[in-house]
Amino acid sequence: MELYDFAFAEKLEKMIASYRGRDFLSMNDLTGEEIEEVLDLASELKIRQKKGIPTPILKGKTLAMIFSKNSTRTRVSFEVGMVQLGGYPLFITAGDSQLSRGEPIADTARVLSRMVDGIMIRTYSHSEVEELAHYADVPVINGLTDYEHPCQIMADLMTIKEHKGQLKGLKVAWVGDGNNVCHSLMIGAAKVGMEVAVATPPGYEPDEKVSLIAQKETSRWGTKLLLTHDPVAAVTGADVVVTDVWASMGQEAESAERVKVFQPYQVNGELVSYAKEDFIFLHCLPAHRGEEVTSEVIDGEHSVVFDEAENRLHAQKAILTLLLG
Ligand code: CP
Ligand code: NVA
Repeated sequence: MELYDFAFAEKLEKMIASYRGRDFLSMNDLTGEEIEEVLDLASELKIRQKKGIPTPILKGKTLAMIFSKNSTRTRVSFEVGMVQLGGYPLFITAGDSQLSRGEPIADTARVLSRMVDGIMIRTYSHSEVEELAHYADVPVINGLTDYEHPCQIMADLMTIKEHKGQLKGLKVAWVGDGNNVCHSLMIGAAKVGMEVAVATPPGYEPDEKVSLIAQKETSRWGTKLLLTHDPVAAVTGADVVVTDVWASMGQEAESAERVKVFQPYQVNGELVSYAKEDFIFLHCLPAHRGEEVTSEVIDGEHSVVFDEAENRLHAQKAILTLLLG
């Protein structure tokens, strides 16, 4: 490693030893202590980047990035992150690769493993990512499935810590669809000792397996997990309010129906008046102003959505460093 900062290099070597080669498919792949450790490294990498200190930790390493869905933040943050770490990212759209012509995911995993040092994938089915990870000999990172978005939640927790100085003991309220981002938030926030409240419309609740994990983690900390259909109950006393689009990628055909169902779950000035006075608002973006969130909230003084977007870069650089380093 061409780092002049030998203390930093030595510290990294020690950390990397317990992460090297692992996959990151779910927030459940990390313990609460590991999440905090990765976030500390992310903050350190952020400071180094701002100061212009080079960190060529992944010099000569390559990351294949497979996208079956659109992306702005995930693509740019992984691509820029690899370059800043001295490595090389390969952008592969599923449609342009042999995947769309039926090449099995298992063969794709084995071929890529012979050529690259890591694989990031954004796709629909979570089991496809698990299959890729099973057959790959290199670390696989989940860049969003219909079930989870763990990289997003690492950035979210980093942003909360930056603005609130801590994670443990804070209350996070999710209002909206109980799917991918919500799942990762429930697991991640519960693991670091946060109180978690989730308000979804009936029929859009989080998966039971995710709720069980979050329940177990909150019991371990002596905090609470609230699953409700009442957005006011979720947001009352919250330090952090989070939402996401009503129709995720792949659900476009349900948009009209969802707009009706989710209307009472809009994050607006009235709803956030139940949160703590100094609450912060998070949204993974892209957002639909006037649907899941009003401009008043997302463009208001409590919103930290662009810090959150920036932290995708720093949080993922920490993950890449530890898994591929
Ligand atoms: N939040 C997020 O994952 O954004 P993109 O879809 O732009 O990657
Ligand atoms: N829930 C959204 C998140 C996008 C980053 C989706 O899956 O489309």
